[in-house]
Amino acid sequence: MADKSVHLVVAVTGASGALYAVSFIQALSKQIPGDSSLIVSPTAIRVHNQEMRTNISSPEEYIESLQANIHVRERQHSFRLYSHTDIGARPASGSTHTDGMIIIPCSMKTLSGIAHGYASNLIERAAEVTLKERRRLIVVPREAPYGLIQLRNMTTLTEAGGIVLPASPGFYQNPETMADLGNFIASRAFSLLGLGTIIKGWQE
Ligand SMILES: Cc1cc2nc3c(=O)[nH]c(=O)nc-3n(C[C@H](O)[C@H](O)[C@H](O)COP(=O)(O)O)c2cc1C
Repeated sequence: MADKSVHLVVAVTGASGALYAVSFIQALSKQIPGDSSLIVSPTAIRVHNQEMRTNISSPEEYIESLQANIHVRERQHSFRLYSHTDIGARPASGSTHTDGMIIIPCSMKTLSGIAHGYASNLIERAAEVTLKERRRLIVVPREAPYGLIQLRNMTTLTEAGGIVLPASPGFYQNPETMADLGNFIASRAFSLLGLGTIIKGWQE
């Protein structure tokens, strides 16, 4: 798929694992031609600041900081930001074509909202649209341990056609850095979205 222009909906929520979003978005920026919609929840910013030791205050600053060390000439992918609360934005409509959606990381709260058709914000609505249009939806949940309600929500989402990609990197590649762990999950997400199986410099 990497030969054609790709349009995804990328959502970041307030589960632990901000690194996974960083790895995925930066790999998309460097390797995949296209443009994607990006929705970042307020709690995602809070968790990102805590885990990545940053002090950003808005989704605009978030994407700027992720792309800061990628030279403009290296950027193949651009991101259009949509507000978490803008329930009428383009990703809320099934008539807006996309090549799928990923929520990375995905909180249990957002997972629940999708599993129960709540559609109370743009991330939940875009996920609902992705499923009803029979497009690919990947969620990357992180919680430990899982409770029964969370497991049932993951089952419901899977039965509805979504794919649960747990934020559980393998260690058989002998990861040496945090970036290796982030790239492991980003690489699995690439594969599931049909973007190729390998992030350059990293093999599953
Ligand atoms: C530092 C921090 C870490 C969190 N980690 C998780 C987590 O790993 N998994 C989870 O489901 N929720 C986690 N939460 C709770 C969610 O952020 C919370 O449920 C929030 O309402 C999610 O909203 P969102 O899905 O709209 O981003 C965490 C919250 C904070 C502040």
